[in-house]
Amino acid sequence: MAKWLGWSVIVLAAIVAGVFATAWALSERAFSRTWHVQDPPLADTVASASPERGRHLFATRGCADCHGADGAGKLLVDAPGVVRIVPSNLTRSVRDPAWTDDRLAAAIRHGVRPDGTPLMIMPTGDYTDLDDQDVAAIVAFMRTLPVVDTDPGRTQVHPFGRVLYMFGKLPLVPAERVDHTPRERTAPPATASVAYGKYVAQVCTGCHGSDFAGGFVLEPGTPPSANLTPHANGLATWNEADFLRLMRTGQRPDGRHLHRMMPWKSYSQMQDVELRAVWAYLDSLPPSPGRKQ
Ligand code: HEC
Ligand code: HEC
Repeated sequence: MAKWLGWSVIVLAAIVAGVFATAWALSERAFSRTWHVQDPPLADTVASASPERGRHLFATRGCADCHGADGAGKLLVDAPGVVRIVPSNLTRSVRDPAWTDDRLAAAIRHGVRPDGTPLMIMPTGDYTDLDDQDVAAIVAFMRTLPVVDTDPGRTQVHPFGRVLYMFGKLPLVPAERVDHTPRERTAPPATASVAYGKYVAQVCTGCHGSDFAGGFVLEPGTPPSANLTPHANGLATWNEADFLRLMRTGQRPDGRHLHRMMPWKSYSQMQDVELRAVWAYLDSLPPSPGRKQ
């Protein structure tokens, strides 16, 4: 009996070691992969872009939530054994000659560094279709950020984070999930239309899913992202006014306040036309019962 127990412990230990070793190898391979971005050059577009438009986008598209309103970066998540997420100090990066305008745009839309290796965690899927004018405006704005000479540290992935990545539970390498085909990108006109709403609502997909059915727990112990489709489990009974109030004040029609995981304070700075377009788009989606937890 004792002998069998001894053997099962050894076999189990070998399996666990095998899982960690495989996760390590797979994640290392992903971290050292390179992508060569060949979008049309943006330098001229950046030169004529409006930093004010860039400031608006930076504040309302999640950049400021992660990198800070001043762009100086900060420790965002520290999950021991899993991952330490540190959005970088952009005020220093924009002064580094390696970060040309096109490479900054590639970081945002493709999730890669100047050498083509992937940025970790940065949700490039939310930004990959940002139009050429808008990404240029963001780059122009980032270049106006006053330097903050602090070092927030680096993003680090620990063994359990690598295992979660292997099982598809942690999007460590968002560059793996976006379309890198070189292309020009043009946004639809800024009206309260379904098409423009789809364009703006791209920034919601990282948390609510590309089908907007929600159900993702983004940090252990926090509520899952909500189902935003017009289904009984989602927003079927909401109207535009309910939605606008939630996005401006964080309060639901039944009076309940949103959990801090939903960055409504940033979205509250969106223009009316942006929020109304997002509502038009959400309301046009096929109803989905949502994801099983
Ligand atoms: C969920 C958090 C998150 C959001 C939202 C986010 N970033 Fe990042 N970003 C990161 C992290 C983390 C890194 C560093 C990744 C690494 O070190 O591998 C990063 C890196 C970058 C880089 C590469 C340069 C550098 O200094 O590392 C740029 C440029 C950048 N982000 C710009 C933006 C812009 C612009 C937006 C909004 C359009 C944005 N980010 C939104 C988390 C985020
Ligand atoms: C960083 C992750 C994150 C992003 C990005 C995000 N959300 Fe959310 N959202 C959540 C979470 C988590 C909840 C659930 C909050 C709760 O239960 O209090 C939520 C809830 C909501 C709700 C409430 C629905 C209900 O039934 O109560 C709406 C509406 C909503 N989000 C809309 C949006 C829109 C529109 C965007 C993009 C402009 C967006 N969210 C982007 C995480 C996110």
